[in-house]
Amino acid sequence: MGYRVVVVGATGNVGREMLNILAERQFPVDEIAALASRKSIGTEVSFGDKTLKTQDLDAFDFAGWDMALFAVGSDATKNYAPKAAAAGCVVIDNSSLYRYDPDVPLIVPEVNADAIVGYSKKNIIANPNCSTAQMVVALKPLHDRARIKRVVVSTYQSVSGAGKEGIDELWDQTKSVYNPVDDKPAKKFTKQIAFNVIPHIDVFMEDGSTKEEWKMVAETKKIIDPSIKVTATCVRVPVFVGHSEAVNIEFEDHLDEDEARDILREAPGVMVIDKREDGGYVTPVECVGDYATFISRIRQDSTIDNGLNLWCVSDNLRKGAALNAVQIAETLGTRVLKKG
Ligand SMILES: NC(=O)c1ccc[n+]([C@@H]2O[C@H](COP(=O)([O-])OP(=O)(O)OC[C@H]3O[C@@H](n4cnc5c(N)ncnc54)[C@H](OP(=O)(O)O)[C@@H]3O)[C@@H](O)[C@H]2O)c1
Repeated sequence: MGYRVVVVGATGNVGREMLNILAERQFPVDEIAALASRKSIGTEVSFGDKTLKTQDLDAFDFAGWDMALFAVGSDATKNYAPKAAAAGCVVIDNSSLYRYDPDVPLIVPEVNADAIVGYSKKNIIANPNCSTAQMVVALKPLHDRARIKRVVVSTYQSVSGAGKEGIDELWDQTKSVYNPVDDKPAKKFTKQIAFNVIPHIDVFMEDGSTKEEWKMVAETKKIIDPSIKVTATCVRVPVFVGHSEAVNIEFEDHLDEDEARDILREAPGVMVIDKREDGGYVTPVECVGDYATFISRIRQDSTIDNGLNLWCVSDNLRKGAALNAVQIAETLGTRVLKKG
């Protein structure tokens, strides 16, 4: 016996990846429903070798369904996730709506799977921001060994992190640069993204940081340890898929770069590619479609007592969203619901 699973936002970047990954990992599915907005009724989406017809979220009855993987924005989540949860269907949510709610666990299974027991307070589990998910997979095993005091991170985030419209804008604008008659001004992003970088993701906060940067701070504390200090600069770059991060870490105890490399080689969800030669590191185009978080450029930071630098790359639609959500569904299945 398997699960009755709903994918909400099935026509989007993350929803489509959720369907792919559920099929790839042979998640025990008895029945699956693909939902999106009314305008997408009947749109076909792939689930393994099957084709599903998209149904209207607004008209859907969640009663009798085991879990719903939500990949819609916060507004739609606010309207529909409580209805699903109240109908007894466990919500695994990708939006930022519930991430900081003390009654909702925020889970990266390689890091804090045990926290899943807290799901029962609201019948909701939150998935972190894409930039946080890949970073905490790398930080946790290092924290366990040498206690992280402070992290300074700069991100290089792909346009797919901004949904379908983000991908379209980079594609159309790149073409229009070579054909100026067909001008494509910035719409989804605040400035031209083609052949440019933009140090602004999500809204500005009062202290001058952005909400995306604040999310990395708050989520790292909730997932790993509230004592870890994080400061972030989040930047949108003209890459379609794959987020990169330059991470500087200060530890309580000394951690040698070779030992850090060995720890990361053993860490779940991490792949170390770190050769000090041309091409001996991973870039975003190479991580697309992969499950791993890739770590390269591990080196001592000699400007502080116990410091390391590293480069962290992962597929933001996978570990940053859909894969992590499916891993949460697997954890929920094996530890809590125990069907299949
Ligand atoms: N992309 C990432 O790297 C990433 C990472 C972590 C978390 N997330 C989060 O995941 C969620 C989805 O992101 P995405 O990148 O997949 O966005 P997307 O490509 O723009 O897709 C949005 C999906 O939501 C559906 N939708 C929007 N409003 C709806 C409504 N009122 N009722 C029903 N369906 C509605 C859309 O359906 P239609 O096609 O019918 O409009 C579409 O299926 C967002 O909350 C995002 O913040 C994304």
